[in-house]
Amino acid sequence: MDAAPLQPEATRGNLTIALAKGRILKEALPLLRTAGIAPQDDPGRSRKLIFGTARPDVRILVMRATDVPTYVEYGAADLGIVGKDTLLEYDGDGFYEPLDLGIARCHLMVAAPAGQQLTAARLRIATKYAGITRRHFAVQGVQTEIIKLYGSMELAPLVGLADRIVDLVDTGNTLKANGLVEIERICEISARVIVNKAAWKTKHQAVTALLAELDRHKGSGRA
Ligand code: PRP
Repeated sequence: MDAAPLQPEATRGNLTIALAKGRILKEALPLLRTAGIAPQDDPGRSRKLIFGTARPDVRILVMRATDVPTYVEYGAADLGIVGKDTLLEYDGDGFYEPLDLGIARCHLMVAAPAGQQLTAARLRIATKYAGITRRHFAVQGVQTEIIKLYGSMELAPLVGLADRIVDLVDTGNTLKANGLVEIERICEISARVIVNKAAWKTKHQAVTALLAELDRHKGSGRA
């Protein structure tokens, strides 16, 4: 066992970025490369979880989107790149959200089977966004039963598990392929940069310089 004490990330001079896997990773990598933060291995192919970059002071952690706010809130990562959907659903406030990267754009919406006739007083809604869904329908005074799922929400109304879904839509192809129609748009979504509150103070110069670089290149780094 290594006897050397672990040094908390927030006390190091280097910057650690937590990056959400999937669509955000795919769209953020060209931007990071343009900003001089190219990973040394390809996170889309490698099974590694920590990647050094072309900048010796910056490393990237790759993880599930829902874990990015947690790593940043606890200071295991100084910054995170994650979708606004994940942030709206996250129950915590240990970070700032200073930059909209304008990538991985999509929207959150309510969908139902085409031609649906509903009679029930209480809507059954399948979603992985339980908090957003609860708040959205509470404001409208609509009674709901929320059924928490972890993927492929579109399946639920097709087999009678739910009346409607709350999910992300990008091209609309998944809805269309499954005979669903959007009936209400909840909000626009894009990838945001979040920053640990302590790192914002202790590494202010490095953090703001990195944010400025990402901001400067965010329109030009698209795949
Ligand atoms: C997302 C979302 C939809 C789909 C929408 O799922 O949940 O299912 O993309 O995209 P479209 O409008 O372009 O068809 P994703 O593929 O990210 O996987 P997930 O179900 O694991 O979230």
